[in-house]
Amino acid sequence: MLLKDRVAVIYGAGGAVGGAVARAFASEGAELFLTGRSLAPVDVVAKDVASVGGSAVAAEVDALDEHAVDEHLRSVVDSAGRIDISFNAIGIPNPVNRLPLVDLDVEQFSLPIATYTRSYFLTARLAARRMVENRSGVIMTVSSTPSRTGVPFIGGGGPAMAAVEALTRGLSAELAPQGIRVVGLRPQAMPETGRIKGSFELYAKASEMTWEQFNESLAGRTHTRRLSTLEELANMAVFVASDRAGGMTGTTVNLTMGSLDD
Ligand SMILES: NC(=O)c1ccc[n+]([C@@H]2O[C@H](COP(=O)([O-])OP(=O)(O)OC[C@H]3O[C@@H](n4cnc5c(N)ncnc54)[C@H](OP(=O)(O)O)[C@@H]3O)[C@@H](O)[C@H]2O)c1
Repeated sequence: MLLKDRVAVIYGAGGAVGGAVARAFASEGAELFLTGRSLAPVDVVAKDVASVGGSAVAAEVDALDEHAVDEHLRSVVDSAGRIDISFNAIGIPNPVNRLPLVDLDVEQFSLPIATYTRSYFLTARLAARRMVENRSGVIMTVSSTPSRTGVPFIGGGGPAMAAVEALTRGLSAELAPQGIRVVGLRPQAMPETGRIKGSFELYAKASEMTWEQFNESLAGRTHTRRLSTLEELANMAVFVASDRAGGMTGTTVNLTMGSLDD
C-alpha cells in the first residue's frame, strides 16, 4: 500500500475531486480526515470509506476560515499525532455565467482569485507549520487548463488557476528545504462531474450544440481524443502523495491529455 498509515487531510472532500481522491487514498491505507463546508456530503464519503474497511473522520470546516482550519488541524494532530498530506480540492461555482471580461465588475472578476488564493494559502500555511516539526509532508493543489490557456467568458477563473500554480511553486521553494513537497494536479475536464456537466451544458447551449457534440469538440483537442476521468486524477494523486514521487516538488502535473503543451 502506497500510503499506509499516512495521515491525510482533504478540503472539499464532499465534492467530485475531493471524494474520488479520498476513496483512492483510503484504498492505499491512508488515515483520512475529511472536511467540507457542509457536513452531509463529507459524511457520505467517510461512510463509504469506512464500509470498505478504511479510516475516515468527517468534519465541517470552511476552508476560507483561518480559525476553523487551524482548530481542525490541531484536533487532527491531537488524535493522529501528525499531518502527512494536505489536499485542497475546494471548488466554487463560476460566478460570471458567460459574461465577457469587458462587462464584468471588479468584484465579479476578483471573486475566484480571492477565494482560491485565500483557501490554498491558509490550508497550506497551517499544514506546513505542523509538517516542519517532522521535516516531512506533502501539500497538494488542484488547478485547471485556464491556468495556461485563454478560455473565454470565465472571468477571473483563469487568473485564479494561474495563481494557484504560482503559489504551488512559491510554497515549494520555501518548504522543500524543510522536507515538505508541494505539487499540483492540473486535470483536463472530467465530464462525469457535476461541475463539468453544468458548465458544459451552458457552453453547449450557447454554441447551439448538443452536450455530446460539445464534449466531442473538446475531446478532439486532446491527443487521446477523449477527456479525462476521476479515476485517472485520483491515481495520480496517490502517486504524488506517496514516497514514489519523492523527486517531485514545485510543479503541477499536466493531466490535460496533451491539450496543453509543456
Ligand atoms: N470537475 C472537473 O472536471 C475539474 C477539472 C479541472 C479542475 N477541477 C478543479 O477541481 C476543484 C474541485 O472540482 P470538483 O469538480 O470536485 O467540484 P465540486 O464537485 O463542486 O466540489 C467542490 C467542493 O468544494 C466545497 N467547497 C467550496 N467552498 C468551500 C469552502 N470554503 N470550504 C470547504 N469546502 C468548500 C464544495 O462544497 P459546497 O457544495 O458546500 O459548496 C464542494 O463540496 C475545482 O477547483 C475545479 O476547478 C475540476
